[in-house]
Amino acid sequence: MSDDPIVFLNGDYLPISQAQVSVLDRGFMFGDGVYEVIPAYTGKLFRIEEHLKRLDNSLSGIRITTAYSHQQWIELFTTLLAKRGLTGDSAVYLQITRGVQAKRDHSFPDDLTPTIFAMASPLAPTTVSDGVDAITLDDIRWAYCHIKAITLLPNALLRQQAVDRGCNEAILIKDGYATEGAASNLFIVDKEGTLLTPPKDHTVLPGVTRDLILELAAIHQLPYREAQISEQTLFEAKEVWVTSSTKEIVPIVTLNQHTVGSGVPGPIWQKMIAFFADYKEQIRRGEVQ
Ligand code: PDD
Repeated sequence: MSDDPIVFLNGDYLPISQAQVSVLDRGFMFGDGVYEVIPAYTGKLFRIEEHLKRLDNSLSGIRITTAYSHQQWIELFTTLLAKRGLTGDSAVYLQITRGVQAKRDHSFPDDLTPTIFAMASPLAPTTVSDGVDAITLDDIRWAYCHIKAITLLPNALLRQQAVDRGCNEAILIKDGYATEGAASNLFIVDKEGTLLTPPKDHTVLPGVTRDLILELAAIHQLPYREAQISEQTLFEAKEVWVTSSTKEIVPIVTLNQHTVGSGVPGPIWQKMIAFFADYKEQIRRGEVQ
Protein backbone atom coordinates (compact mmCIF):
# COMPACT_ATOMS: atom_id res chain seq x y z
CA MET A 1 0.00 0.00 0.00
CA SER A 2 1.34 3.41 -0.99
CA ASP A 3 2.26 5.76 1.84
CA ASP A 4 1.41 8.67 -0.47
CA PRO A 5 -2.09 7.63 -1.56
CA ILE A 6 -4.01 9.29 -4.35
CA VAL A 7 -6.76 11.66 -3.18
CA PHE A 8 -9.19 13.96 -4.99
CA LEU A 9 -8.95 17.73 -4.63
CA ASN A 10 -10.94 20.25 -6.69
CA GLY A 11 -11.10 18.17 -9.86
CA ASP A 12 -7.64 16.56 -9.68
CA TYR A 13 -6.47 13.12 -8.54
CA LEU A 14 -3.05 13.56 -6.92
CA PRO A 15 -0.83 12.14 -4.17
CA ILE A 16 -1.93 13.33 -0.73
CA SER A 17 1.48 14.97 -0.14
CA GLN A 18 0.69 17.33 -3.04
CA ALA A 19 -2.91 18.09 -2.04
CA GLN A 20 -2.89 21.62 -0.67
CA VAL A 21 -5.58 24.04 0.44
CA SER A 22 -5.26 27.78 1.14
CA VAL A 23 -5.01 28.91 4.76
CA LEU A 24 -7.85 31.29 3.85
CA ASP A 25 -10.16 28.36 3.16
CA ARG A 26 -13.25 28.80 5.34
CA GLY A 27 -12.94 25.16 6.35
CA PHE A 28 -9.60 26.01 7.98
CA MET A 29 -10.70 29.43 9.30
CA PHE A 30 -14.20 28.63 10.55
CA GLY A 31 -14.79 24.88 10.24
CA ASP A 32 -17.27 26.00 7.57
CA GLY A 33 -18.12 22.83 5.68
CA VAL A 34 -19.80 19.43 5.69
CA TYR A 35 -18.66 15.86 5.13
CA GLU A 36 -19.73 12.29 4.46
CA VAL A 37 -18.19 8.91 5.24
CA ILE A 38 -19.37 6.17 2.86
CA PRO A 39 -18.33 2.53 3.22
CA ALA A 40 -17.60 0.48 0.12
CA TYR A 41 -17.73 -3.30 0.46
CA THR A 42 -15.47 -4.93 -2.12
CA GLY A 43 -15.62 -1.63 -3.95
CA LYS A 44 -19.45 -1.41 -3.90
CA LEU A 45 -20.72 1.80 -2.31
CA PHE A 46 -23.01 1.19 0.67
CA ARG A 47 -26.43 2.91 0.57
CA ILE A 48 -25.00 5.56 -1.70
CA GLU A 49 -28.32 7.25 -2.46
CA GLU A 50 -29.02 7.66 1.28
CA HIS A 51 -25.55 9.12 1.86
CA LEU A 52 -25.97 11.53 -1.06
CA LYS A 53 -29.43 12.61 0.14
CA ARG A 54 -27.95 13.39 3.54
CA LEU A 55 -25.11 15.27 1.82
CA ASP A 56 -27.69 17.36 -0.09
CA ASN A 57 -29.44 18.17 3.20
CA SER A 58 -26.17 19.10 4.92
CA LEU A 59 -25.14 21.33 2.00
CA SER A 60 -28.48 23.11 1.79
CA GLY A 61 -28.52 23.37 5.60
CA ILE A 62 -25.40 25.57 5.47
CA ARG A 63 -26.17 27.27 2.12
CA ILE A 64 -23.48 25.64 -0.06
CA THR A 65 -24.24 24.55 -3.61
CA THR A 66 -22.03 22.43 -5.87
CA ALA A 67 -22.33 21.52 -9.54
CA TYR A 68 -22.16 17.77 -8.82
CA SER A 69 -25.08 15.48 -9.63
CA HIS A 70 -25.47 12.22 -7.69
CA GLN A 71 -24.11 10.39 -10.74
CA GLN A 72 -21.01 12.60 -10.76
CA TRP A 73 -20.39 11.99 -7.07
CA ILE A 74 -20.66 8.24 -7.67
CA GLU A 75 -18.20 8.47 -10.58
CA LEU A 76 -15.77 10.44 -8.43
CA PHE A 77 -15.90 7.88 -5.60
CA THR A 78 -15.62 4.93 -7.96
CA THR A 79 -12.63 6.46 -9.75
CA LEU A 80 -10.95 7.24 -6.43
CA LEU A 81 -11.41 3.68 -5.17
CA ALA A 82 -10.01 2.33 -8.44
CA LYS A 83 -7.02 4.69 -8.39
CA ARG A 84 -6.33 3.65 -4.81
CA GLY A 85 -6.64 -0.02 -5.78
CA LEU A 86 -9.06 -0.54 -2.89
CA THR A 87 -10.97 -3.65 -3.82
CA GLY A 88 -11.58 -4.88 -0.26
CA ASP A 89 -13.71 -3.11 2.35
CA SER A 90 -13.00 0.59 2.47
CA ALA A 91 -14.50 3.96 3.29
CA VAL A 92 -14.64 7.15 1.24
CA TYR A 93 -14.34 10.44 3.13
CA LEU A 94 -15.77 13.48 1.32
CA GLN A 95 -15.40 17.02 2.62
CA ILE A 96 -16.86 20.14 1.06
CA THR A 97 -16.03 23.54 2.49
CA ARG A 98 -17.45 26.91 1.47
CA GLY A 99 -14.13 27.75 -0.21
CA VAL A 100 -11.44 30.41 -0.01
CA GLN A 101 -12.38 33.96 0.97
CA ALA A 102 -9.89 36.79 0.31
CA LYS A 103 -10.27 38.29 3.78
CA ARG A 104 -11.21 36.64 7.07
CA ASP A 105 -14.83 37.57 7.69
CA HIS A 106 -17.56 35.63 9.48
CA SER A 107 -20.14 36.53 6.83
CA PHE A 108 -19.68 35.15 3.33
CA PRO A 109 -20.55 36.03 -0.27
CA ASP A 110 -22.75 33.61 -2.28
CA ASP A 111 -20.24 33.14 -5.08
CA LEU A 112 -17.32 31.33 -3.41
CA THR A 113 -16.14 28.16 -5.16
CA PRO A 114 -16.48 25.25 -2.71
CA THR A 115 -13.34 23.25 -1.91
CA ILE A 116 -14.00 19.57 -2.60
CA PHE A 117 -11.74 16.93 -1.11
CA ALA A 118 -12.12 13.15 -1.05
CA MET A 119 -9.93 10.32 0.14
CA ALA A 120 -10.45 6.59 0.51
CA SER A 121 -8.95 4.25 3.12
CA PRO A 122 -9.24 0.59 4.01
CA LEU A 123 -12.02 -0.09 6.51
CA ALA A 124 -10.59 -1.93 9.49
CA PRO A 125 -12.65 -5.05 10.27
CA THR A 126 -14.78 -4.54 13.38
CA THR A 127 -13.64 -6.85 16.16
CA VAL A 128 -16.03 -6.08 18.97
CA SER A 129 -17.52 -9.45 19.80
CA ASP A 130 -16.66 -8.89 23.50
CA GLY A 131 -18.31 -5.48 23.56
CA VAL A 132 -16.83 -2.16 24.69
CA ASP A 133 -17.16 0.33 27.56
CA ALA A 134 -18.87 3.71 27.39
CA ILE A 135 -19.61 6.68 29.61
CA THR A 136 -22.40 9.23 29.57
CA LEU A 137 -21.54 12.91 29.15
CA ASP A 138 -23.52 16.12 28.72
CA ASP A 139 -24.35 16.77 25.07
CA ILE A 140 -22.53 20.08 24.64
CA ARG A 141 -23.05 20.28 20.86
CA TRP A 142 -24.98 22.88 18.84
CA ALA A 143 -28.63 22.93 17.79
CA TYR A 144 -28.13 21.58 14.22
CA CYS A 145 -26.80 18.09 14.90
CA HIS A 146 -28.72 16.78 11.85
CA ILE A 147 -26.15 18.57 9.65
CA LYS A 148 -22.96 16.55 9.15
CA ALA A 149 -20.72 19.56 9.75
CA ILE A 150 -16.91 19.32 9.83
CA THR A 151 -17.00 21.51 12.94
CA LEU A 152 -16.41 18.57 15.27
CA LEU A 153 -14.69 20.16 18.27
CA PRO A 154 -17.40 19.17 20.80
CA ASN A 155 -17.52 15.62 19.40
CA ALA A 156 -13.72 15.35 19.54
CA LEU A 157 -13.56 16.63 23.13
CA LEU A 158 -16.35 14.26 24.20
CA ARG A 159 -14.79 11.23 22.51
CA GLN A 160 -11.41 12.10 24.06
CA GLN A 161 -12.97 12.27 27.55
CA ALA A 162 -14.30 8.76 26.96
CA VAL A 163 -10.87 7.55 25.79
CA ASP A 164 -9.17 9.23 28.78
CA ARG A 165 -11.42 7.11 30.99
CA GLY A 166 -10.53 3.92 29.14
CA CYS A 167 -13.80 3.88 27.20
CA ASN A 168 -14.62 3.52 23.55
CA GLU A 169 -17.52 5.97 23.20
CA ALA A 170 -19.38 8.75 25.01
CA ILE A 171 -23.18 8.54 25.05
CA LEU A 172 -24.56 12.05 25.10
CA ILE A 173 -27.33 13.27 27.39
CA LYS A 174 -29.42 16.33 26.59
CA ASP A 175 -32.17 17.53 28.96
CA GLY A 176 -32.34 14.11 30.64
CA TYR A 177 -32.53 12.11 27.36
CA ALA A 178 -29.83 10.20 25.49
CA THR A 179 -29.31 11.57 21.97
CA GLU A 180 -26.47 9.58 20.36
CA GLY A 181 -22.75 8.79 20.67
CA ALA A 182 -19.94 11.29 20.00
CA ALA A 183 -19.61 9.78 16.51
CA SER A 184 -22.40 7.20 16.38
CA ASN A 185 -26.14 6.65 16.77
CA LEU A 186 -27.64 4.95 19.82
CA PHE A 187 -29.85 1.87 20.12
CA ILE A 188 -31.06 0.12 23.26
CA VAL A 189 -33.11 -3.00 23.95
CA ASP A 190 -35.48 -1.96 26.73
CA LYS A 191 -36.83 -4.03 29.67
CA GLU A 192 -39.67 -5.31 27.46
CA GLY A 193 -37.24 -6.44 24.76
CA THR A 194 -38.10 -3.66 22.28
CA LEU A 195 -35.33 -2.13 20.21
CA LEU A 196 -35.40 1.67 20.66
CA THR A 197 -33.54 4.51 18.97
CA PRO A 198 -34.22 8.24 19.26
CA PRO A 199 -36.29 9.75 16.43
CA LYS A 200 -34.53 11.77 13.72
CA ASP A 201 -34.67 15.45 14.70
CA HIS A 202 -32.17 18.29 15.07
CA THR A 203 -30.53 16.65 18.11
CA VAL A 204 -29.08 13.66 16.20
CA LEU A 205 -27.31 12.91 12.95
CA PRO A 206 -29.67 10.89 10.72
CA GLY A 207 -27.39 7.86 10.50
CA VAL A 208 -27.45 5.72 7.38
CA THR A 209 -26.45 2.65 9.42
CA ARG A 210 -29.25 3.49 11.89
CA ASP A 211 -31.87 3.50 9.13
CA LEU A 212 -30.67 0.16 7.78
CA ILE A 213 -30.90 -1.38 11.27
CA LEU A 214 -34.53 -0.25 11.56
CA GLU A 215 -35.24 -1.73 8.12
CA LEU A 216 -33.59 -5.02 9.13
CA ALA A 217 -35.60 -5.05 12.39
CA ALA A 218 -38.82 -4.63 10.37
CA ILE A 219 -37.88 -7.31 7.81
CA HIS A 220 -36.95 -9.81 10.53
CA GLN A 221 -39.90 -8.91 12.76
CA LEU A 222 -37.95 -7.72 15.76
CA PRO A 223 -40.07 -5.36 17.88
CA TYR A 224 -38.71 -1.81 17.49
CA ARG A 225 -39.74 1.79 18.01
CA GLU A 226 -38.29 5.26 17.44
CA ALA A 227 -38.65 6.92 20.85
CA GLN A 228 -36.88 9.26 23.23
CA ILE A 229 -34.64 7.34 25.65
CA SER A 230 -34.53 8.81 29.15
CA GLU A 231 -31.37 8.44 31.20
CA GLN A 232 -33.23 5.99 33.44
CA THR A 233 -34.38 3.86 30.49
CA LEU A 234 -30.80 3.87 29.20
CA PHE A 235 -29.42 2.56 32.51
CA GLU A 236 -32.18 -0.09 32.75
CA ALA A 237 -31.58 -1.31 29.19
CA LYS A 238 -30.83 -4.98 28.55
CA GLU A 239 -28.62 -4.04 25.62
CA VAL A 240 -27.00 -0.82 24.44
CA TRP A 241 -25.38 -0.43 21.00
CA VAL A 242 -23.80 2.39 19.02
CA THR A 243 -23.77 2.36 15.23
CA SER A 244 -21.84 4.09 12.47
CA SER A 245 -20.56 3.57 8.94
CA THR A 246 -17.02 2.81 10.08
CA LYS A 247 -17.74 0.76 13.22
CA GLU A 248 -21.06 -0.80 12.13
CA ILE A 249 -22.88 -2.09 15.29
CA VAL A 250 -20.90 -1.96 18.51
CA PRO A 251 -22.32 -3.48 21.71
CA ILE A 252 -21.72 -1.53 24.93
CA VAL A 253 -21.20 -3.85 27.90
CA THR A 254 -20.50 -1.27 30.62
CA LEU A 255 -21.92 2.20 31.01
CA ASN A 256 -20.30 4.45 33.64
CA GLN A 257 -18.71 1.22 34.95
CA HIS A 258 -22.15 -0.38 35.52
CA THR A 259 -22.73 -3.65 33.71
CA VAL A 260 -25.23 -3.43 30.85
CA GLY A 261 -27.59 -6.46 30.83
CA SER A 262 -25.59 -9.57 31.52
CA GLY A 263 -22.24 -7.90 30.72
CA VAL A 264 -21.78 -9.52 27.32
CA PRO A 265 -23.19 -8.59 23.88
CA GLY A 266 -26.86 -9.52 24.02
CA PRO A 267 -29.00 -11.87 21.92
CA ILE A 268 -30.67 -9.11 19.89
CA TRP A 269 -27.24 -7.70 18.95
CA GLN A 270 -26.15 -11.23 17.96
CA LYS A 271 -29.15 -11.44 15.64
CA MET A 272 -28.73 -7.94 14.22
CA ILE A 273 -25.01 -8.32 13.52
CA ALA A 274 -25.81 -11.51 11.57
CA PHE A 275 -28.55 -9.72 9.57
CA PHE A 276 -26.07 -6.90 8.91
CA ALA A 277 -23.33 -9.32 7.78
CA ASP A 278 -25.85 -10.94 5.46
CA TYR A 279 -26.79 -7.53 4.05
CA LYS A 280 -23.12 -6.73 3.39
CA GLU A 281 -22.81 -10.03 1.50
CA GLN A 282 -25.77 -8.98 -0.65
CA ILE A 283 -23.99 -5.69 -1.39
CA ARG A 284 -20.82 -7.55 -2.35
CA ARG A 285 -22.89 -9.68 -4.74
CA GLY A 286 -24.40 -6.49 -6.19
CA GLU A 287 -27.97 -7.47 -5.17
CA VAL A 288 -28.63 -4.39 -3.00
CA GLN A 289 -26.88 -1.04 -2.47
N1 PDD B 1 -19.72 9.54 12.00
N2 PDD B 1 -23.88 10.39 14.80
C1 PDD B 1 -22.72 11.08 14.69
C2 PDD B 1 -22.51 12.28 15.56
C3 PDD B 1 -21.73 10.63 13.78
O1 PDD B 1 -20.59 11.35 13.67
C4 PDD B 1 -21.97 9.47 13.01
C5 PDD B 1 -20.95 8.95 12.02
C6 PDD B 1 -23.19 8.80 13.16
C7 PDD B 1 -23.51 7.56 12.36
O2 PDD B 1 -23.89 7.87 11.04
P1 PDD B 1 -23.66 6.82 9.86
O3 PDD B 1 -24.28 5.54 10.28
O4 PDD B 1 -24.34 7.41 8.68
O5 PDD B 1 -22.16 6.69 9.68
C8 PDD B 1 -24.11 9.29 14.06
C9 PDD B 1 -18.73 9.25 10.98
C10 PDD B 1 -18.53 7.81 10.68
C11 PDD B 1 -17.45 10.02 11.27
O6 PDD B 1 -17.59 11.14 11.77
O7 PDD B 1 -16.37 9.55 10.97
